[in-house]
Amino acid sequence: MIERTLVLVKPDGVRRGLVGEVISRFERKGLKLVALKILRMSREKAMDFYSVHADKPFYKDLVEFITSGPIVAMVLEGDSAISVVRQMIGPTDGRKAPPGTIRGDFALSIQENVVHASDSPESFERESKIIFSPEDYVA
Ligand code: CMP
Repeated sequence: MIERTLVLVKPDGVRRGLVGEVISRFERKGLKLVALKILRMSREKAMDFYSVHADKPFYKDLVEFITSGPIVAMVLEGDSAISVVRQMIGPTDGRKAPPGTIRGDFALSIQENVVHASDSPESFERESKIIFSPEDYVA
């Protein structure tokens, strides 16, 4: 089934110059970019974006981190895009992510893990609306 998913290159990924590498991997896989922007998340948007983690001990640090610099946000489209992209980024903890995944190749941290990707169609609907408007999508 053709799906859409949201990917963020987080502030660590942008600072380290990994934006091109991340986009290139998804393009080479055959996923289609349908929206793309660079932005710095406001504190309010970050708190909303990560609201499912509001009760976690790392929530405050997570909001600090995601607002610490520019991020690159994109919407990718393709067959089973949500699960395909989650496989390509690897598990949350960069130390445990297998080589060949984005986090496995570029992250050594659980917080500074280079990328975020939606984990379900419901998450995509919620998260993408925090970042993109309907006019941001290509026709
Ligand atoms: P992400 O996929 O964006 O979803 C939530 C984020 O919270 C996660 O990536 C990490 O950046 C961060 N995170 C998850 N678990 C922890 C943890 N135990 N300690 C610190 N940060 C975490």
